[in-house]
Amino acid sequence: MRTVLVAGGCGFIGTNFVLHLLRTRPELRVVNLDKLTYAGNLENLAEVEGHPNYRFVKGDICDEALVDKLLGEGVDVLVNFAAETHVDRSIKDPAEFIRSNVVGVQTLLVCARKRNVRRFIQIGTDEVYGSLGPSGRFTEDSPLQPNNPYSASKAAGDLLVRAFHKTHGMDAVITRCTNNYGPFQFPEKAIPVFVSNAMQDRPIPVYGDGLHVRDWLYVEDHCRAIESAMERGRAGEVYNIGGGNELPNIELARLILRELKKPESLIQFVTDRPGHDRRYALDSAKIQKELNWRPRVTLAEGIPRTVRWYLEHQEWLGKLRSGDYLEYYRRHYHQTHGLKE
Ligand code: NAD
Ligand code: DAU
Repeated sequence: MRTVLVAGGCGFIGTNFVLHLLRTRPELRVVNLDKLTYAGNLENLAEVEGHPNYRFVKGDICDEALVDKLLGEGVDVLVNFAAETHVDRSIKDPAEFIRSNVVGVQTLLVCARKRNVRRFIQIGTDEVYGSLGPSGRFTEDSPLQPNNPYSASKAAGDLLVRAFHKTHGMDAVITRCTNNYGPFQFPEKAIPVFVSNAMQDRPIPVYGDGLHVRDWLYVEDHCRAIESAMERGRAGEVYNIGGGNELPNIELARLILRELKKPESLIQFVTDRPGHDRRYALDSAKIQKELNWRPRVTLAEGIPRTVRWYLEHQEWLGKLRSGDYLEYYRRHYHQTHGLKE
């Protein structure tokens, strides 16, 4: 049985990826290593807690002794989602971004090499390419021109992965994806902020003139793309993963308000994000051609599905907004596993 170590499996995409593997790949064992930062919510994975092929380990990817021990137990593939991910936070305080997104990646690489992990998958972002004007798309060969501390730290992580492949011949693949949306996204990112505020008739904060463009991909489609890179991606390659769903933020806000049958008067233009990238768009021809991956969920299906999920998970949202989710690990996990706090 192959073992996949998922780092950062309690965050938004990691949760969806762990659930995807456990639901569709009974032949895989999944170990989830997560530090449970403010963005990690163990309760997301409550339904698989007793699953025979699943194990959770609380820990930091920068903790070399722990990572070495875990990888020494036998890991075939390491998929690294663990990162600080919110651009606005990186502008206020970049230190943790450098630690987790750069030092963390280096620690994983050093230990993976020492313990002969067969394949290393680094989950990257389109933000490393910087900002586009009204036309064009980034390919895998576009230069890296990150514009904020988050994307700079992610670019550094990607370059370390590249270097370990070139220097040590490590079997490593980097994926770079556009903006994800769907279940379990932390309500500090645009879509869950827009949905949860509108649900409560609170203003929707749209940064600047609202004409910044993002390309949206339903999280399940991202998970399938990562799985294809994990299974069939070529070592040393980068794969762009785009949704083909470009939308200015103001249109996204209107779409969500229409879905919730709320008035457009809830839209409130607020001070812009410093260095706010104007447009992201990826050319995904390489992953489509080489790995036969295509997005399946259109925005017309994905937005109503996502809005419905948040409507049906208001308790989940409420806990995240109040900070109560942080109690879950302490109360529930420690009790059920008889661990010391
Ligand atoms: P998230 O913020 O929702 O979750 C991050 C997870 O990583 C959390 O569970 C957190 O506890 C964990 N973590 C953070 N630092 C850690 C550390 N030092 N050690 C162990 N665990 C740690 O993030 P997300 O939106 O799910 O993004 C996951 C990955 O995908 C990130 O690498 C991000 O750069 C990349 N990505 C995200 C998007 C997007 O739209 N969300 C798009 C492209 C790429
Ligand atoms: O492109 C991939 C990236 O997408 C990932 O690498 C990041 O981890 C992820 O956070 C996301 O970054 P963005 O900055 O694009 O996402 P965010 O949800 O923060 O913002 C989306 C757009 O909406 C962006 O143009 C800023 C704007 N925005 C955001 C928030 C939170 C608003 O207008 N209002 C808001 O309240």
